[in-house]
Amino acid sequence: MVVPYKHEPFTDFSVETNKQKLLDALKEVEEGYGKEYPLIIGGERIMTEDKIKVVNPANKDEVLGYVSKANKELADKAIAVANETFEKNGVNPIRFSEPTFYSAQQQSYGAAKRNLPHILLKKQESHGKKQTPILEGIDFLEYYGRQMLRIKDGVEVESRPIENNRFDYIPLGVGLVISPWNFLFAIMTGTTVAAMVTGNTVLLKPASATPIIAYKLMEVLEEAGMPAGVVNYIPGPGSEVGDHLVDHPKTRFVSFTGSRDVGTRIFERAAVVHEGQKWLKRTIIEMGGKDTIVVDKEADLELAAQSIVQSAFGFSGQKCSACSRAVIHEDVYDQVKDRVVELTNELTVGNTSDPSNIYMGPVIDQAAYDKIMSYIQIGKEEGELLAGGTGDDTTGWFVQPTVFGNVDPKARIMQEEIFGPVVALSKGKDFDELIDIANNTEYGLTGAVITNNREHLEQAREDFMVGNLYFNRGCTAAIVGYQPFGGFNMSGTDSKAGGPDYLIQHMQGKTTSEQF
Ligand code: NAD
Ligand code: ALA
Repeated sequence: MVVPYKHEPFTDFSVETNKQKLLDALKEVEEGYGKEYPLIIGGERIMTEDKIKVVNPANKDEVLGYVSKANKELADKAIAVANETFEKNGVNPIRFSEPTFYSAQQQSYGAAKRNLPHILLKKQESHGKKQTPILEGIDFLEYYGRQMLRIKDGVEVESRPIENNRFDYIPLGVGLVISPWNFLFAIMTGTTVAAMVTGNTVLLKPASATPIIAYKLMEVLEEAGMPAGVVNYIPGPGSEVGDHLVDHPKTRFVSFTGSRDVGTRIFERAAVVHEGQKWLKRTIIEMGGKDTIVVDKEADLELAAQSIVQSAFGFSGQKCSACSRAVIHEDVYDQVKDRVVELTNELTVGNTSDPSNIYMGPVIDQAAYDKIMSYIQIGKEEGELLAGGTGDDTTGWFVQPTVFGNVDPKARIMQEEIFGPVVALSKGKDFDELIDIANNTEYGLTGAVITNNREHLEQAREDFMVGNLYFNRGCTAAIVGYQPFGGFNMSGTDSKAGGPDYLIQHMQGKTTSEQF
């Protein structure tokens, strides 16, 4: 019997025993700092000379590890192994079921549930986030396992008395999973296991800032009995290995999460049919956001300010879902602005592995720091600096939470994704105008509306064009299976991770009809 899906409960780290467990786990992780990590292709560990140096963004001198780097030759080897593993196993939807992670869920569900959080918690690494999103990663595993149970024996279609019709989903082939550095464990895990549980073989190319956590996932999958060659781990430079694998004729589909620039590049490249290619490549592409919280005049203004600050500065604003713009009714603009500034000034910034209660960690690397600081410069020309505005990259990459006020809706800081702790405030004269401004970007990922006016909520439900719309709360923190996640327009293909349609995008439908 499969226990119905429920998201993993959050851990309360104000409880001393929970906090101690986390600190012990982090100590264990620290003991492994500076280690070298191999690639994993067909179960074989391959150490390369050339390595990615992974550092702690809160302390640049602390090396977390050195990770082997794939080149074109190793990428070719990985795709050959993944292809061979796929072909060897035929095209049943669940070919890796004895024993795989999926069967671990199906057959010894309780054991998987007991063991996984433990394995994963022990192995988490710190990347400028107080906790890596381990729980969300577990949710993806649990949810997709159950979704697969629903479709593995086909989906009901009609049959006339003269025939028997069936409609089944079968796997696609070799999938290239390219993950971003943020939500480092959750997104990488969700996208990898979705491709795997649907019966495909996978090339996992994690981001260069966070390849160690992906190695840890590989260890977990191996521990759960995944056969060699099903998921192959090939970190390497996006421009070299990424382009090569996207173009490869044996790549059947690409599942990408990351920036708009890289996503559109992959979309274009995957559309080109190369010699020896027998299919049109499928692409699942999730990109950035420029997410807005709308504050109406009839609203709980404290809730509005709290929602803006938490959504803008949680994880140092490095969420695709982060609130980077707030559009506020002119009648309440000053009140909301003052409270946002007050709350922002209370936030602390620093090394989050310090036991003291620091709210915001660093941004991920020098390139991110430079980009955010350059947008802060732009913001100073485009609006009124109300809080923050400074950074310090001497030991780690720290940026103060920054608020700009009175910003024109068309200004660059209201239009371009900054991906850091910067929020711009704008005003509008009525609810129609607030929604028009909220919709005036090329993105469409998340948004929130804070209002006590029911008609305005219903109007927003129709007119606010984002994939994830929230009412009277912040615009981040979607939960797997509860709020399927993905955006419209230049935010991506709206594939809705953690939703009921997600898995079938990794499969193809096959109709069989037998006539009597
Ligand atoms: P990024 O686009 O720089 O990198 C993402 C991945 O693409 C990395 O693994 C990178 O190595 C790889 N890559 C780079 N060039 C490539 C190429 N030419 N071919 C193939 N792969 C290539 O993004 P990032 O900085 O890691 O992540 C932040 C971005 O991701 C932000 O824009 C954020 O909004 C977005 N994001 C979106 C979602 C979502 O669900 N919509 C979730 C998380 C992050
Ligand atoms: N699922 C993440 C959020 O909603 C991206 O914030």
